[in-house]
Amino acid sequence: MSKIFFYRCPVCGSVVFAFAEASPACCGRDMEILKDTLSGGAVDRHLPDARMEDGVLKVTVGINLHPSLPGHRIEWVFAETVSGGEFRFFGPGEEPRCVFSQGTKVKNVYAFCNLHGLWKCMKT
Ligand SMILES: [Fe+2]
Repeated sequence: MSKIFFYRCPVCGSVVFAFAEASPACCGRDMEILKDTLSGGAVDRHLPDARMEDGVLKVTVGINLHPSLPGHRIEWVFAETVSGGEFRFFGPGEEPRCVFSQGTKVKNVYAFCNLHGLWKCMKT
């Protein structure tokens, strides 16, 4: 089974993923690798809650919904599949809830908080 790696640009915040370690660059700088660690944030506000309902995968970030403020928000959710994955991006003020129509193929779901880092859950 492949491991997934996420990289984020320290300048513009763009994100890419790869199934092998890489050295991507953006804005003239090396992109930073994101670790799937619990980096000080509350589990109940960061761990993605992913559930199959009516044939689609519904994801909410946090059993207690994560805030969506300019300085503290979920920037994106990624649904990992065997062959790749899909991002959903959120701007300030947008609740971190989304749907993936290819939910049956999803293995893991990741959420990235701009203060508390990368969080991962297995699909339920
Ligand atoms: Fe957070």
